[in-house]
Parts: sequence; structure tokens; C-alpha cells
Amino acid sequence: MIIAVDGPAASGKGTIARALAKRYGLPHLDTGLLYRAVAATVLREELDPAREADAVAACGFPDALLDDPWLRTDGVGQAASIVSAHPLVRAALLQRQRRFAAQPGGAILDGRDIGTVIAPQADVKLFVKATPRIRAQRRHAELQRRGFDVTFDRVLADIRARDERDAKRASAPMKPADDATLLDTSFLSIEAAVQRAIALVEERT
Ligand code: C5P
Repeated sequence: MIIAVDGPAASGKGTIARALAKRYGLPHLDTGLLYRAVAATVLREELDPAREADAVAACGFPDALLDDPWLRTDGVGQAASIVSAHPLVRAALLQRQRRFAAQPGGAILDGRDIGTVIAPQADVKLFVKATPRIRAQRRHAELQRRGFDVTFDRVLADIRARDERDAKRASAPMKPADDATLLDTSFLSIEAAVQRAIALVEERT
């Protein structure tokens, strides 16, 4: 069974994907981390995320980098949405994601283009969404919990900027696959969103 979970930042897709992976015993790949690793490498080497050649040169990052907590920061997230718009970066990361999806026992991947580009053959496709304000509230609360001093307006502006870049790029833009099921988590608790996702998987398999 292949499960594709797509959606914008702070929609709940990562939490849902991890919960489904645990429930069904499937390996899980957070594909955003791959773009974050490219972005982190570009930033660390003081290169320019907007230059495709700089970003492509960073695609050979070491696997150990994927565990670095720095990758989860919003600064790296913004740079990730810049490097991820380059077609050659997407091409460089494509096979790795397709290989992961093709494991004999199945897999679950979350990202922006899993249902449309990486695994269009997925058995279940979820597109998780929530309003920008609600996503910004979640992200803001999380950042405050982790001790980052940032305003709500700043977080909302960052979320809107990232949505816009991810949805408007020419190469594999963020959008629901035609056969994806939309799951709006705006007014759902984490537990309720996960239950709903499990029900959708059960319905479709
Ligand atoms: O999901 P996450 O917020 O970690 O993703 C970081 C960035 O990586 C996104 O804003 C998006 O630009 C890019 N991304 C992508 N395709 C994916 C996953 C992430 O373009 N499949």
C-alpha cells in the first residue's frame, strides 16, 4: 500500500503521515526534509538559494544532515521553498523519493507533489489543508513553546509567502491530485484529524 499525504505548511500532514505510518507499519518519508537539506547546505556554504546551479550543487548532501534540528527552522523552510522551485533540484531528488515509494511492503510519503508527481499510482491520496490563519496560529504556538521570539504576523506572512511560492511555481506546484481526498483540519484536533485520515484509508483500501 502506498499512501500519499500532501498539503501546505502546518496543515497537519506530517502528524497525520507519522500516525498512519505507525498504525499500518509502513516506512515514512518526510520529503520536505530533502528540500530543507538542500536549502541548509546552500545557506551553510553562503550560496544563493535562488541560483539554480548553487542549489543543484547542494543536492549531494550527506544523509546525516537529515537529522539536524536546524532543518526544521522557518528560515531553512523559506529557503527550501526557493530551492524547491528549481526543476533541476526536483529532478535530482525524484529517484530517491520514487525508490522509497516502491518498497515491496509499501510506504507513506508526505510533501507537496506526492500524489501528482512522485507516486501518482498511490492507493490512497490525501490532501490536508487548513486556513492560513489557523496554520499560522499552530506554527506560532509551536515556535513560542520552543522559545523562539517571533510575532504572529511574521509567522502568518511567512506561511502566506511559502504557500504562494509552492502553489505558483511551474515545476510540480502544490495542488491536490484529481483523485485526492481533501481533509480540512482547520477545526479538528490532532486526534480527530488522525481518526478521519484512518477512516479515509480504510474506505479506500
Ligand atoms: O513540508 P516542509 O514544510 O518541510 O517543506 C519545506 C519546503 O519544501 C516546502 O515549502 C516546499 O517548497 C518544498 N517541498 C516541495 N515538495 C515536496 C515537499 C516539500 O516542494 N514534496
